[in-house]
Order: sequence, then C-alpha cells, then structure tokens
Amino acid sequence: MKVAVYITGGIAAYKAVYFIRLLQKNGHQVRIAMTQNSKNFIGSQTLAALTKYSVLDDLWSKENESKISHIELADWAQAAVVIPADANIIGKMANGLADDAVSTALLATSASKFIVPAMNVHMWENEAVKRNIKTLKEDGINILEPTSGQLAEGYNGKGRMPEPEQVYQWWENYFEKKLPLKGKRVLVTAGGTREQIDPVRFIGNNSSGKMGIALAQAASQLGAEVDLIYGQISTRLPQEENIKLYSIKSTEELLKKVQALFKRDNILIMAAAPADFRVKNYSEQKIKKKVDVDNLRLELEKTPDILKSMGEQKKQGQIIIGFAAETNNLIENAQKKLLSKNADYIIANDVSQGVFGSNQNKVTILSKKGEIKPLPKMDKFQLAKKLLTELLL
Ligand code: CTP
Repeated sequence: MKVAVYITGGIAAYKAVYFIRLLQKNGHQVRIAMTQNSKNFIGSQTLAALTKYSVLDDLWSKENESKISHIELADWAQAAVVIPADANIIGKMANGLADDAVSTALLATSASKFIVPAMNVHMWENEAVKRNIKTLKEDGINILEPTSGQLAEGYNGKGRMPEPEQVYQWWENYFEKKLPLKGKRVLVTAGGTREQIDPVRFIGNNSSGKMGIALAQAASQLGAEVDLIYGQISTRLPQEENIKLYSIKSTEELLKKVQALFKRDNILIMAAAPADFRVKNYSEQKIKKKVDVDNLRLELEKTPDILKSMGEQKKQGQIIIGFAAETNNLIENAQKKLLSKNADYIIANDVSQGVFGSNQNKVTILSKKGEIKPLPKMDKFQLAKKLLTELLL
C-alpha cells in the first residue's frame, strides 16, 4: 500500500521513524510530509534517506516548481497517517484549515486517514482539543487514543503516544477488518465484444463496461485478487496493484480467457455483454458496395454461451454470478437464465431505460435458493460494493 506519513511537532516524532520502518518491513511504500515545528525534533534528511523520496515540508519549495508537490502526495497515497499529531494539526484538520504543506495535503487527500495524537495531558484534556477530536471522529477519521504514562515533562498523565508496534498493529487491524475478501480470487468480465464482419466493420453492442469495472474495483477494495477481462469499453480502466487486466475482442476469445482463468479463481462475475451471434463467413477483404445491389445479407451463427458453459464446469466451492439484461418480463426472464445457466445468482437489469453508459443502475438479485431481492437505484460503484457484500460475505 502507498502510505503518506505526516509528522508534526512533538518529542514523539522520533517514534515515527520506527513506525515508518515497520511499514517498510511489511512491504508498504512510504512518503513523508513534515511541519516546520517537527524539524526541531527530527531531521528531514534522515526521513528522505529512509524513504528514498524527498520530504514535503514547504508549500513554496523551489526544488520542484513544475510539480504541485502537496497535491501529488495527496493523490498518490492510499492511506494518510499523522504521527505524532500535535494539537495544532488536530485543530486544523477538524476545521478544514490549510496553511502549510502538511495541512494542505491532508485537506486535499481522499486516502483513509489515521491520527496518532501525542501531547501534554493538560493539552489533551483541553475542551477545545476534545471538541476537535470529537469532530474528527464524526468525520470518520481513525484516532488512536494516547496512553497514560510518564510524559516527557517528567510527570504522569494521558497524552503519551503508544509504542510504534502498537500503532502499526492498530493501523493494520483497520485494513484486515476492511478486507473480507482477502485470499479470494475474483474473475470479472466487463464491456461488450466485437464480432468482425470484415477488416473494417464489426457487430458490437451498447455496453460501456462501467458495471464490470466497478465490480472489479469493489472486489479489489475488499481485499480480493482480481482478474478483469475487458472487451469494448467506454470508461477508464483501473490501475490497481491487485487487478490484473486482460483484453479480448470476440466472444470466442472471452470464452478461452474465462476458461483459463476460472481454473484458479473462486468467483466468476459475468458482467460483460458478449455478442450472441457472429458472422458465419468473415470476409478477409472489405465488403464493397455494388452499384446495382441494394441489400446485403449477413448470415449469423451463435457464439458460445460462456456463463452456461462455466455453470456446467463449476467446481465445488466456486461461485458464479451472471447478469440478465432484459427489456421486458424482467424477473421471469432472469429466473429462466438462473436455471438454464446453472448460476448461483443472477443480477436482473432492466435495460429498457438508459442504463448503458450511465453511472447509475437499478437491479434485482435472484438467487439459486429462490430469493428475489430488488435494490434501490444507486451509483454503479456503490451498487458493486452492495452486491459483493450481499452475495459473498
Ligand atoms: N453471456 C455469456 N455468453 C454469451 C452471452 C451472454 O456468458 N454468449 C452472459 C452475460 O455475461 C450475462 C448472462 O450471460 O451474465 C446473460 O446475458 P444476456 O445478454 O442477458 O442474456 P443471453 O444469455 O444472451 O440471452 P438473451 O440475449 O436471449 O436475453
């Protein structure tokens, strides 16, 4: 994972170095931002040497004038850890203030945020700090409460930063809980296929690939290793470490790829819209218009039904999820597909009203056990997460 570590002023800054080492030892990539105050406790060179990245400590640095470094760091990171977090950064974050590199990058990042406060007991118990901590918790930010013990001031009290090992464990636990599909391999197909008529023309369909890609991303965010096979799409492909991409053109190619990958994968989600027919006689040369002929007849033949053939070969423990794109008799037609294709679930999709290319979708889940569950209209990514949690967890 890509982790941005934000260091603010406090004697506990030295413990942040051990925390960074733990992140690295566990295979995470780390980049650092630090406040000017934190430099009284730890040097930026140590941190740059440790991470092999320059440290972000100045909004107006001359070093990389062409780059907007704080936004770059904000966009790069998947997790943001503020360690140690002083009362100042806690106040800024709670109130949306941004007046230096650290607070600005934190305001700009959409990474999951983690705060490890460390300060004097009287500061920690100050009403304003308590209010700010409450606000941050309400904003969904994760806070590791300080422990009680000997403070740097020489007396006991709450405000001490827990040891780096404990901080690391707390941080890792958060992701473990959020990764219920860890250890699972999910195969997702997305987009439409193309069946060539001649070298320049093809039969295609309206699928944008958005639903399949949203499912692949949702599965990856829940911890799965994802194989994403995509055909014709009109949206961006995900660039994530645990999503492997495979491109195909025709239904036949899609079948071959699915057959190969479903040998090792546990779950198959057929969100693609494979063409059901292809031309029987592909023309090696471009078909020319003839002056005296007004019609062109193409003979089509059926392509393989991938979902059906996977349903027949399914091994114990494998789960198959198909879609049913219908313009009429939604549930009845979807039920027929559930049975004929031996799927565990069919997601019935009414495609009569502008689903293609849209960012939203409204579906009904049908299960092999006979349950029928309609879901409200929602954003395709939200729907993808909902479907995976409903069907797989
Ligand atoms: N599907 C498939 N292979 C095909 C066609 C469809 O695996 N050659 C899959 C789709 O990915 C989807 C499910 O089968 O998960 C249903 O697709 P849909 O287009 O709704 O139905 P079809 O089976 O093609 O039947 P019809 O077109 O008659 O509705």
